[in-house]
Amino acid sequence: MTAPPATCVIKAQATKDGDVDTAAEPAARVLRAGGLVAFPTETVYGLGADATNAEAVARLYEAKGRPSFNPLIAHVIDAAAARALAHFDQAAERLAEAFWPGPLTLVLPRRADCPVAELATAGLDTIAVRVPSHPVARAILAAVGRPLVAPSANRSGHVSPTTAQHVLADLRGRIELIVDGGQTPMGLESTIVACLDATMLLRPGALPRTELERVVRLSEPTQTAGATGHNDPAPLAPGQLASHYAPRARLRLNAKNVEAGEALLAFGPLVASADRAALVLNLSARGDLIEAAANLFSHLRALDAAGTAAIAVMPVPSAGLGEAINDRLVRAAAPRA
Ligand code: TXA
Ligand code: MG
Repeated sequence: MTAPPATCVIKAQATKDGDVDTAAEPAARVLRAGGLVAFPTETVYGLGADATNAEAVARLYEAKGRPSFNPLIAHVIDAAAARALAHFDQAAERLAEAFWPGPLTLVLPRRADCPVAELATAGLDTIAVRVPSHPVARAILAAVGRPLVAPSANRSGHVSPTTAQHVLADLRGRIELIVDGGQTPMGLESTIVACLDATMLLRPGALPRTELERVVRLSEPTQTAGATGHNDPAPLAPGQLASHYAPRARLRLNAKNVEAGEALLAFGPLVASADRAALVLNLSARGDLIEAAANLFSHLRALDAAGTAAIAVMPVPSAGLGEAINDRLVRAAAPRA
């Protein structure tokens, strides 16, 4: 898919007897083809994309107009599907048992064989997972049969939408489909809890802290929330507080050449000295920013894994998704303590 067509809106027929919603099949078709579909959850409307399709995820960031790649929540049909993505400790098992399906998101260590695109987790070793309870969300998840990333379906910097009209006002012409299931029952985002070395409340939300504390003991987070300026928590990595993906290799940005011993992360036509590089990976040979975003974290990881001490990174224009790509490159290049 290239430029999104006019945004379609279809009404969900939420059935009481548990039948598959009639809007679910068309929504699943769009999602499987890499398209973007907004749908109601019990908290707020989410903007869904196939979590395993890096280009679909890149398009989602573009549609939201996010200036940086925040990690996204992977939505799945049940705890078994969540266990295919992440490792559960005892606290996570207890929370899942008590509150799923429902407005609770768990941040967990990402499994090595997790099929979710690296871009969706912003290159982190952790992944946020949630099992929604809303019948329309569940019908769509069941029809797609894949995890869906779904950030709140608003433009970056706007408030989370609780009606299809809110979604339309923000995203008309930027996404393929909106499934209108009326007003969302809770109107507040899911509560986010990290179950890593410690169990910590990362984002207060629709499930109150007192409910959590009936099931697990919470540690106090050692960082302040709001790193992104939207009351969003800074992403955590196991055992440390890492707000972004950090490669082992040193990154040299805006490189116009390759120096001895460097690997090359290219964009567009290769620089003349590219044949000097220990290894070359191109974010997008044709200079396409959506393709580049889709490849960003997986290419960085692959170059890092090859063991070179330094990676030369060719300039990436800052238009469109380029702003977010450059944001992450600058962070990845920052010297570490
Ligand atoms: O209720 C909700 O959670 C809604 C509905 C649609 O499911 N979704 C939602 O997604 O609020 P979003 O993208 O607007 O917020 C997700 C939050 C972000 O603040 C992000 O930084 C955090 O989850 N997050 C995602 N992965 C993370 C990770 N690995 N570590 C820490 N925080 C993470
Ligand atoms: Mg949001």
